[in-house]
Amino acid sequence: MPDKKIHIFDTTLRDGEQVPGCKLNTSEKLELALKLEELGVDIIEAGFPISSPGDFHSVEEISKIIKNSTVCGLSRAVQKDIEAAAAALKYAKRPRIHTGIGTSDYHIKSKFNSTREEILQRAVQSVKWAKNFVDDVEFYAEDAGRTDNEYLAKVIEAVIAVGATVVNIPDTTGYCLPYQYGDKIAYLINNVKNIDKAIISCHCHNDLGLATANTIAGVIAGARQIECTINGLGERAGNTSMEECVMVIKQHKHLGFYTDIKTEMLNPVSRLVSDIMRMPVQPNKAIVGSNAFSHSSGIHQDGFLKDSLTYEIINPEEVGAGESKIVLTARSGRSALAHRFRKIGYEFTRNDIDVLYERFLKLADTKKEVVENDLHEMAKTYKPIEEIA
Ligand code: KIV
Ligand code: ZN
Repeated sequence: MPDKKIHIFDTTLRDGEQVPGCKLNTSEKLELALKLEELGVDIIEAGFPISSPGDFHSVEEISKIIKNSTVCGLSRAVQKDIEAAAAALKYAKRPRIHTGIGTSDYHIKSKFNSTREEILQRAVQSVKWAKNFVDDVEFYAEDAGRTDNEYLAKVIEAVIAVGATVVNIPDTTGYCLPYQYGDKIAYLINNVKNIDKAIISCHCHNDLGLATANTIAGVIAGARQIECTINGLGERAGNTSMEECVMVIKQHKHLGFYTDIKTEMLNPVSRLVSDIMRMPVQPNKAIVGSNAFSHSSGIHQDGFLKDSLTYEIINPEEVGAGESKIVLTARSGRSALAHRFRKIGYEFTRNDIDVLYERFLKLADTKKEVVENDLHEMAKTYKPIEEIA
């Protein structure tokens, strides 16, 4: 039976850090790398060593402190890049060089002014160079999402033949539909003779909002590594979000896959990344957004208070998000109001709540949210009907 473990490759420190304004210094990168290791990430892409002396230094320092995760450095299919990556990874217990080249005709013609045959040779050469330094070499076929499948299969077979241990199939431009990306992975499994010698990796971008869906389609088709970032950070519209993929896998147990991520750390790590990169998380972001476990409409609140499973598929504690929230707005109902009063120590009868609810609605229409102080104020000034009579 094929192994159902899905390896989590985090690229927050590389693809995530490419986002304008998200640049980190070495000590911030070290703090994050240690957290990622504690979170259970299998591979940490620590940076792109040739890109700047600062990034080289960060990869080198991360390599020294990380004990369990593989530490990976990015390079182009260029000898001096690969040498720089190898030098930066010198102290890593488990070093991996990630090298590759664009394989779509857009890249071959417009970026490299080259030919398919020449790019194939350069791909093979890059893996051979990297193999001189490390055993674990991941090859990326940039823009694989728009690469002709037959040619892609040829490149992948050739790089595996010279020792690539992982083959990364990036949907660099976030172009594919889930069934297309899944079919691409299935095509490689069925048409690359030596595919059993390597792990297939999904690296999807989110330009059409499909990064998570595409990644999961890739996994279902046979990929066993997911490249992702915390909070979905990354170039343009971002990369695949780690928290989404990990929880899709955990929720849909029938698929049989698992990861080693400690899911109760997902929210704390998301906040750390957001703080350190000064990049707020959108409130409605799945799993880690501030509204991900908030209920505000009366119908939902009533159902949720009767049984949380009516409107929640994940227990927030499972992802370190604390308790679900019942938010009071002009769309809330009586049961939510009574529940919030009870939480702060007021036990009202049904009749009381009927009266208080009318007052609550008047107030709620004047503001976005009725907060705890408003409830205290309402409770203090409320006289039960019997007392007035
Ligand atoms: O999106 C992409 O193709 C990449 C590669 C460098 C792996 O980030
Ligand atoms: Zn990318």
